[in-house]
Amino acid sequence: MKILVLGSGAREHAIILALASEQAHHEILAAPGNAGIARDAAIARVPDGGVLNPEDPTAVTEYANAHAIDLVVIGPEAPLVAGVADALRERGIPVFGPGRAAAQLEGSKTFAKRIMDAAGVPTGRAVRAQTIEEVRAALDDLGAPHVVKADGLAAGKGVIVTEDRDAALAHAEEFLPTGAVLIEEFLSGPEVSLFFLSDGDTVRPLSPAQDFKRLGDGDSGPNTGGMGAYSPLPWLAEHFGDERAFVDLVTETVALPVIRELDREGTPFIGLLYAGLILTDTGVKVIEFNARFGDPETQVVLPRLVTPLSQLLLSAASGTLEDEPRPEFSETAAVTVVLASEGYPAAPVTHRPLAGLDAAASVEGVHIAHAATRDQDGELIATGGRVLNVVAVADDFATARDRAYRALDAIELAGGQYRTDIAARVVG
Ligand code: AMP
Ligand code: GLY
Repeated sequence: MKILVLGSGAREHAIILALASEQAHHEILAAPGNAGIARDAAIARVPDGGVLNPEDPTAVTEYANAHAIDLVVIGPEAPLVAGVADALRERGIPVFGPGRAAAQLEGSKTFAKRIMDAAGVPTGRAVRAQTIEEVRAALDDLGAPHVVKADGLAAGKGVIVTEDRDAALAHAEEFLPTGAVLIEEFLSGPEVSLFFLSDGDTVRPLSPAQDFKRLGDGDSGPNTGGMGAYSPLPWLAEHFGDERAFVDLVTETVALPVIRELDREGTPFIGLLYAGLILTDTGVKVIEFNARFGDPETQVVLPRLVTPLSQLLLSAASGTLEDEPRPEFSETAAVTVVLASEGYPAAPVTHRPLAGLDAAASVEGVHIAHAATRDQDGELIATGGRVLNVVAVADDFATARDRAYRALDAIELAGGQYRTDIAARVVG
């Protein structure tokens, strides 16, 4: 197959590595990609010699037509919101990723709550507020700890969870000018990310993962885009008997009802439904949906996927997921640790040289998924906040962790920072 992958992060690199590892040979193109992606795929260029703009619906459609692309895979949310999937679908080009309307499941918390309400999906109680008076009333009504969320996309900065009423009010003040905020009931319990492939009608679950959103060890410091992840989650067995029982429960109570409601409303969801869940004492509840693969969870889920990814994505894009058996996963333990630039997330210091990646990747079971890297005159440099993911697989988590951290020891990035406790709780 000829596959075009849109995006430039470690998630897209993980998708490309999974496609490239299949027995069948694929021609893989990427836009815009990064230094690591450029080694595993061809960068898609437009006639003027520049790189294809992944957020331009017309340019992507023309490129896909001109190059006889069999499947377009959309990694990040920006092209979804820009309507790239709609444009491709209109031209009959198979695309994995929802249209603009269905992508609101991620882009608008109000939309997501309405769909969950209509579909009877368990989630925290929430009040939409448009004035500070409404915010005050909602904070008093729902009580502490307070959860305040920006309604729209806020690049990971839109949510505050706090005991401090003044901090909750200040956060609301900051985001009220963007339209509205949601005051939500605080939910307590372990978090799980579970991904579903959807063709608009049928869903197929992947294997659960957990990510680490705070910058520092012990979940300290500011929220980030994600500092690490692991999969599978052995402790799910304590609560549900086994992983399969948990996944089946979420399929029946969350994924299928949401997919059916979106279909009923004329906005079928074709792509990756990411359910962010909290396992509360009163059951599994949704804290958020995303309309795309999670980052960094994808980096640990896909290396465990045994079923060819291309087949699953094409079936979802073509409306034939019903013909696909449930995706299979190996029992291996997968751990990923993010290496971030100094100053991330507030003010990352970029354009520093990056070295030692070959030594890191030579550690058994380890590979590197690049996020913000560029080749500059033959030298590798870090160009953003989250620079790369070390990914390690092994028969058990102790070995996977040991491999990941040995690989990180080999990498040189001045001021680079990473968490040392990823997957620590599942060891020993
Ligand atoms: P979100 O952007 O909605 O994923 O929220 C970011 C993080 O805030 C989540 O990963 C949770 O750790 C936390 N969070 C969000 N909503 C709630 C909630 N209702 N109760 C407790 N924690 C929450
Ligand atoms: N892992 C969080 C996200 O992808 O949004």
